[in-house]
Amino acid sequence: MTHTITLIPGDGIGPEVMHAVVRILTATGVKFEWETVLAGAEAFEKYREYIPKALTESIERTRVALKGPITTPVGEGFASINVQLRKQFDLYANFRPVRNLPHIPTRYPDIDLIIVRENTEGLYSGLEHEVVPGVVESLKVMTEKACTRIARFAFEYARKNQRKKVHAVHKANIMKLSDGLFLRCSRKVAQEFAEITYGEHIVDNTCMQLVMNPYQYDVLVMENLYGDIISDLCAGLVGGLGLVPSANLGDHCAIFEAVHGSAPDIAGQNLANPTALLRSALLMLRHIGEAKAALQIRNALEVIYRHRDKLTRDVGGKAGTSEFADELIAEMNSPTSH
Ligand code: NAI
Repeated sequence: MTHTITLIPGDGIGPEVMHAVVRILTATGVKFEWETVLAGAEAFEKYREYIPKALTESIERTRVALKGPITTPVGEGFASINVQLRKQFDLYANFRPVRNLPHIPTRYPDIDLIIVRENTEGLYSGLEHEVVPGVVESLKVMTEKACTRIARFAFEYARKNQRKKVHAVHKANIMKLSDGLFLRCSRKVAQEFAEITYGEHIVDNTCMQLVMNPYQYDVLVMENLYGDIISDLCAGLVGGLGLVPSANLGDHCAIFEAVHGSAPDIAGQNLANPTALLRSALLMLRHIGEAKAALQIRNALEVIYRHRDKLTRDVGGKAGTSEFADELIAEMNSPTSH
């Protein structure tokens, strides 16, 4: 069977890490047909559209995309393409597993956290306007529908995967209406899952608790902006942004991408770690029913991560992006890896 997948290379380090990941995926023997489409500034130059029609049509057809990071200008310019894609396809659940890899020195071993981030509303939507010169307004819109479905996603994931606890992360002491609604919806859903312990922590305290004792958490569910910030914090717990994957999931389609951005500071230098995008691709492989191939890559990754010299610089190695992919493919093809 051939899987047709929309491939968005992205910009910055996107094309480099994507090239490495596609080579690794191809080495599994699974057959892919990639529909490669541009998005963001590059697409605008070519088609005068940030999200070209070809991209929308491709995702509507394939229902699965693998995506590199896309740069969003800071403090000016066009709105985030990443946010727009999540909204356009109603990819309401951003699923971010945070786990250690062997032999990467970190403050804590054996971290195993799941971050579930609401992906379609909240302050992160960037609904802003200037009221009068010198006064701006940024709107935080929250709905019962979105709060309930993200809470339900977190609890259903916990139940299916034998996880013990779900914590709702909030700031309802200050945002009594918006985060208050989020908590009310979470509490209501929690009642349907008696076997799972439900807890609530205020977001600033959660940051401190994660740094002091991350083992107290299991599944964390939160609104969009807190999810953005907390997932980078958690990436730092396991060795950095080069390692942490994510899946944007809706009822009809899914986009798999790393947690990290386009890393302009290292773009075009063969320095980026493709592991985060690769782990996102492993989530994609399981999503399309290719769990065996996902396991094959995961096993090879675990072996490669025992050899510091085969790793990229962000995790203490010396290899470039493409050499890392070469080493991983060699490991996948080695007789001992089967
Ligand atoms: P960033 O995640 O691109 O980089 C932060 C730091 O982590 C940098 O020092 C970078 O070199 C390092 N880093 C990130 N990924 C790495 C990798 N794979 N290997 C090694 N080191 C890595 O965040 P930053 O600099 O805040 O944002 C840059 C741009 O990316 C912005 O325009 C932002 O809007 C965009 N962005 C896009 C995302 C997406 O497409 N989903 C997500 C986050 C940011």
